[in-house]
Amino acid sequence: MATLSIFGAQWGDEGKGKVIDRLAADVDYIVRYQGGANAGHTVVVGDKTYALHLIPSGILHPGRINVIANGVAIDPISFLGEVDGLIVRGVQINGDNLVLSSNAHVIFEHHKVVDGLAERWKGEGRIGTTGRGIGPAYADKASRTGLRIADLLDPERCKERLGAALAEKNALIKRVHEAEPLDLDSQLEKYSTLADRLRPFVADTGKLLRQAYRDGKSILFEGAQGVMLDIDHGTYPFVTSSNTGTGGIPAGTGFPPVWVEKSMGIAKAYCTRVGEGPFPSELTDEMGDHLCKVGREFGTTTGRARRAGWFDGVAARYAFELAGTNSWVMTKLDVLSGLGEIQVGVAYKHDGVRYEEYPAHLPCVEDVEVEYRTLPGWNEDISDVREWDDLPANAQGYVRALGDLVGAPVALVSVGPDRAAMVTCPK
Ligand code: GDP
Ligand code: IMO
Ligand code: MG
Repeated sequence: MATLSIFGAQWGDEGKGKVIDRLAADVDYIVRYQGGANAGHTVVVGDKTYALHLIPSGILHPGRINVIANGVAIDPISFLGEVDGLIVRGVQINGDNLVLSSNAHVIFEHHKVVDGLAERWKGEGRIGTTGRGIGPAYADKASRTGLRIADLLDPERCKERLGAALAEKNALIKRVHEAEPLDLDSQLEKYSTLADRLRPFVADTGKLLRQAYRDGKSILFEGAQGVMLDIDHGTYPFVTSSNTGTGGIPAGTGFPPVWVEKSMGIAKAYCTRVGEGPFPSELTDEMGDHLCKVGREFGTTTGRARRAGWFDGVAARYAFELAGTNSWVMTKLDVLSGLGEIQVGVAYKHDGVRYEEYPAHLPCVEDVEVEYRTLPGWNEDISDVREWDDLPANAQGYVRALGDLVGAPVALVSVGPDRAAMVTCPK
């Protein structure tokens, strides 16, 4: 494998961190290309658990180069807090194994303030964001009023551009939201101190990655969130503000699209979603509670309880097709142990019409009825299984059935949070 895109195929939290950490053992570069500290990627190694938000999930492997490319929105406070937290735990981090793009946009305090105020303003229509300033920062990028890391590192430019940005944001904060404005001088002081600490990590990451490819290095692109949260292709407006699938890579890195050779999706054996928005296969009954409890479905970033439901074959097929998928990893199969029967969504029904393909129009997705197929469950605890042949026949059948349903073969099955808890599927 020379270049591989790994992306979430549902609504995020599919177990990307675990899978990427595992695959990172065999690659040279691990690259984040979109999103920001809204992501929460959990990696479990033995008795240690790491929650990564901005730092790529290859950081626990010495000798790998971890890149945060231009498409990521970087909150310097979050970034440096994460760096410090990892160093305290004995992880080696410096400008050689962790590199930040000079062209990545910066999330400032006002972005986080506006994120919270905008959610309050929306009331019932709120998105349920992570409050990390993601939407406001990407909005400023698109309106060309944002600051990039290079601007932050240049005191004159920072003063000028942050001054202009804050003047506009303070008007919004004060006049529309009737909240407390931010003081420019104290913001400049705070962020100039942070800038000094960021400096050793900053480089031209596009150039770095293109050169790495020419040198024959292997590169893994780490998607955050999931395709159903994609700003263009997800359940808009209940989405995040970036392109979350393989399509986000070229713009978010400066790496030519034709150099991305393979694409691997990650999906849970069931579904979860955190925050507001349509979720056709959601279970609001005891079964939903059971999946949340056994799967420990609490957000890595906000600690919020996730919503749970059955595997949605319609949404997954759509996500795999959009992102271009050679194969996928099914995570959390262990969570389904002990269920007599398991339901799998195979089609949507709305106004008398049956959809096997995901309907692009949201109001329809909001009130579809899901048509399920029932598959037999298994009782055995499979969390210690490491070989395909040791999985119960019904668990093997479940994996095969979902591979057929979504039109892409399952390459690996994850059966526990630990790095080692993985089973390779036969071809
Ligand atoms: P990400 O955002 O896609 O990286 O996923 P998160 O880390 O937010 O959420 C996935 C959660 O499931 C984490 O707590 C992982 O430790 C855990 N996890 C990952 N794979 C498995 C698995 O196969 N089985 C179980 N039981 N837990 C898993
Ligand atoms: P990882 O990488 C799950 C959700 C939020 C909210 C919507 C918009 O861990 O899979 P935002 O703060 O991005 O503006 O919020 O997107 N969301 C996630 N849900 N996993 C994530 O990341 C998420 N990042 C954002 O809950 O509904
Ligand atoms: Mg997560």
